[in-house]
Amino acid sequence: MTSLSSNHLLGIRDLTPEDIHLIFETADNFKSIINRPIKKVPSLRDITIANLFFENSTRTRVSFELAEKRLSADVVNFSSSSSSVSKGETLIDTVKNILSMKVDMIVMRHPAPGACTFLSRHIDAQIVNAGDGTHEHPTQALLDAYSMREKFGDLTNKKIVIVGDILHSRVALSNIYCLKKLGAHVKVCGPPTLIPKHIGALGVEVEYDLNRALEWCDVANMLRIQLERQEIKYFPSLREYSMQYGLTLDRLENLNKEIVIMHPGPINRGVEITSDVADSEHSIILNQVENGVAIRMAVLYLLAAQGDSNA
Ligand code: CP
Repeated sequence: MTSLSSNHLLGIRDLTPEDIHLIFETADNFKSIINRPIKKVPSLRDITIANLFFENSTRTRVSFELAEKRLSADVVNFSSSSSSVSKGETLIDTVKNILSMKVDMIVMRHPAPGACTFLSRHIDAQIVNAGDGTHEHPTQALLDAYSMREKFGDLTNKKIVIVGDILHSRVALSNIYCLKKLGAHVKVCGPPTLIPKHIGALGVEVEYDLNRALEWCDVANMLRIQLERQEIKYFPSLREYSMQYGLTLDRLENLNKEIVIMHPGPINRGVEITSDVADSEHSIILNQVENGVAIRMAVLYLLAAQGDSNA
């Protein structure tokens, strides 16, 4: 297989396992290129990409911009706070105006779940979802699974627990879709109030006890509590959350095995994970960030090739 089955990257739900493997193999090539002294390739020369960020971001935004520049694309960055969106312009009008300036591809982060899918029905350009509200964050899931693949090779039957605020997490949903498509076993762990009621329908199990979840898993992916998306209190206090669900060195040392620790960032040190764990040899958090550039290069490259074949 040499091309993706989809013209956009709106979510992992739309990808086939073959798509995911193709993205990984393409990322392998780009990872070796970006570790060379000359990190740039001309693959997307004459392609213009607009990064539209309607919500804050550090990793995803910088990573997409670096990926685009390393592929020699022309890049424009847009942030909603300094734009005419604050004067009442609609999303479709904003994007149509940007596209009329001969932009070829859109990377968009938006607080509304489904915003990228909605936009894809109204514009001709290809869209990459850089995180849409509580829905999906596909490139995060791809870089997470790619980082696990670097550790283990094949992910078939590997055991991954996703810990924390599953209810508000686009990272959790995209990870579940991605890991299940790759044949891994997935559990989610957190307070009952932060686990969606029907999550079992996605083929995952629920574990409310963090120590038992850690005993079971090969990888623990620790998520941030998304206080900015919580309108009510889901647990008594951050201190109590941390006592029940925070990953500490003590908990790790009480296991009779080594596990891999991941976190998509941004980290709330001392809440879901202590600094000594986040910075320990068990943690691959910065490898995840490094791999994000190669994964995003692969996604953009494959979508651009798809666009050429549709032209
Ligand atoms: N992981 C992630 O999406 O981080 P940012 O919000 O900083 O992009």
